[in-house]
Formats: sequence, C-alpha cells, structure tokens
Amino acid sequence: VSGGTAERAHDLAERLRGRALDELPTPVALLDLDALERNIAQMADRTRGRVRLRPHAKTHKCAEIALRQVAAGALGVTVATPSECLAIARAGRGVGEILIANELADRVRIATAVEAAALVPVIVSVDDAAAVAALGRAAAERGATVGVVIEVDVGMHRGGTREIGQSTALVDAIGEWDHLVMRGLTGYEGHAVLERDVERRTAMCATAMELLAEHVAAVRNLGAEVEIVAAGGTNTHQITATHEVVTELQAGTYALMDTAYRPYAPDFEPAMTVLASVSSVHGTRAILACGSKVHAVTELAPAALRARPGTILELHEEHTLLEVPAGSLALDDRVEIVVGYCGGTVNLHDYYVVVSDGVVRDVWPILGRGPGWP
Ligand SMILES: Cc1ncc(COP(=O)(O)O)c(C=O)c1O
Repeated sequence: VSGGTAERAHDLAERLRGRALDELPTPVALLDLDALERNIAQMADRTRGRVRLRPHAKTHKCAEIALRQVAAGALGVTVATPSECLAIARAGRGVGEILIANELADRVRIATAVEAAALVPVIVSVDDAAAVAALGRAAAERGATVGVVIEVDVGMHRGGTREIGQSTALVDAIGEWDHLVMRGLTGYEGHAVLERDVERRTAMCATAMELLAEHVAAVRNLGAEVEIVAAGGTNTHQITATHEVVTELQAGTYALMDTAYRPYAPDFEPAMTVLASVSSVHGTRAILACGSKVHAVTELAPAALRARPGTILELHEEHTLLEVPAGSLALDDRVEIVVGYCGGTVNLHDYYVVVSDGVVRDVWPILGRGPGWP
C-alpha cells in the first residue's frame, strides 16, 4: 500500500542528504532532529516512574519517530486509526505495543487493526458489546490475539461508556472471546486540555480521573485484570499523572509542537516547521508560495514565522500573506513557518525532510497519513 511513498522517501534522502535549506524544493515539512530528540527526551524523563508513556502517534504518523519514542522508554505508541496502527506496526517490534485509542465498528477498520495485531501487540478501545463481538470474531478468524481497553467518557462526551454498569458489562463481553484479552481502561480528559486557567484545568483533570477511578474500581471488583489505565495529553499530562489510578499517558503533540499548544506546554519546542519560499513582495507585504493546502491552523493561534520578524496575516489555499519589515524579504527567500496545528499539517505531507544544524540528514515517509484507509 505505502511502499511507493517509502521508496520515494528513500530516493529523496539520497538526493537531498547534505543539502542546505536554501537548496530544497518548497514547500516542504522540515523536521529539526535535535528539537525532536529534546522533546522526546524531556517527556521520557517525566515518564520513567510509576506512570509510563505511550505517546499519541496520530500527531506524527511516522514509524521513524515512533521507534525513537520507544527507544527513549515509551511502552509503545497510541494511535487514532487502524491505518496509522498498521503503518507503524510494519516497522516491527521496535515500536512496542500499539494502543488504538478509538472505537472500531467498520469491518474493514476492524480487519486492519487485527492485521496489525498479527505483526505487533495491539490494544483496541471499546465502548459497546457489539463492537467487542465484531473484534472478537475478526481476531479469531485471523488467529491473532488483540488486547482490549474499555474507554470511559470522563467528560468530553465523545466515545466511551457513560455509566459504570456499561463498563462492567463490557468485562463480561470481552471474556466471551478467546482471542481478546482484557487489559484495562482508558479515559481521555480532552475537554480540559484547552482550559487556560491552570487551576480550573487541574480541577477538571482531577474530576475526570476520579470518574475513571470509579470505573476502574468497579471493574477490579469483578476480579478483572486492570493493568492499563491510560489518559493524558500534552497540556494535561503533568496534572493527570498525579492521580494514583493512572498508569500511562498518551500525550502526542509534545513531539512536534505548534503555535496552538505552545502557550499550554512551553517546555516543548516546535520541531516541525514548513519551509516556504517568497513569491511576491510589495513594501511590507510579502507572499509565501504555500497556503492552507500545506499548513493547517486552528482557531486557537495563527501560525508564526521562525526566527525572523513579521506576522502571518492570512492563509489562502496557495498563498500565505505576511506583514514584514520593509526590505527584510526578497523573492525566493526561504522562510520557516511554525505551524498552527501540527497534526493537521502532517496529514497534508508525504515526507519529513529531517534536518540538523540546517543540513538535510534524511527523509522519513509519513505512511500513516490520509483518511484512515489501510
Ligand atoms: C484519545 C486521546 N488521547 C490523548 C490525546 C492527547 O494528544 P495531545 O498530546 O496531542 O493533546 C488525544 C488528542 O486528541 C486523544 O484523542
């Protein structure tokens, strides 16, 4: 499926290795290897104790980054889609155990997850007995064993069980299938991650983890094994980790970072940027030859320019409009954009051009990108 992209990444690496930024085709997703390693090391240092890390790879969708995170101490990675799971599983056992932090109901999505489980250990989230049965049947047909965690709605009102009785009923449903193994529970406090007031964010996380703990206690009361209690994001991981029920964190954005999350998680630095070139200059207005088809934003914060004065005013499909000091940019100058939303930007690119000290070291394929098809 993805061999083409992987092969092209290899060819591109041969062509681009050793080149400076102003010799690169634009626009391109740049990955600063040193910043990435610092982000990975920083989160690894925080998760060596009781609470471990299974970083969310939906942000980067890239096996090479997953391998580095696991080499630094992570248990494996978390993903959002079965195709991300399979793309990363194909890198082999070095990626650890992959948790799909999402419910699966579509039979092709289930089959893709089970396919991945034949390669590396995979855990799937469930919140419904019918989905458990579909997964159990698919795993039995493939002869693969799949781990299962029960997702609890801890306040975001997305997937997840709403009542304790639903969680306990799922334990029985999982127990009916020889190829499913009950591993634990998960409950992501996504409703708290954008709360700017740290006291309120702390209180929201505490309430969410208390609710998760109640479900965990009820499940344990049935005599069920609860090895995993997973939660946490980049903006909440330090708060969530203080609750005694939590065994592992799922933060993801910290690895690449973006302008939207930077105010919430200032300890992590932007490792991915988009390198663009100037296509037009008129006084203090400069235009970059790239737009919303190349870098994604959210309503939280605009993208920013890296290490140069100026602001991004507007984003069109193929233009980024800048306000800069007159004379500071000329045609074909290269500009690095610290993106507004790294996960969305990654999904628009096939490759990371990996740089260190301004020189290309490698090209990594983004094999988990796309709409989630295998
Ligand atoms: C289930 C789940 N866990 C954890 C996260 C945390 O990721 P991030 O660190 O990017 O906020 C997310 C992000 O949306 C998520 O959906």
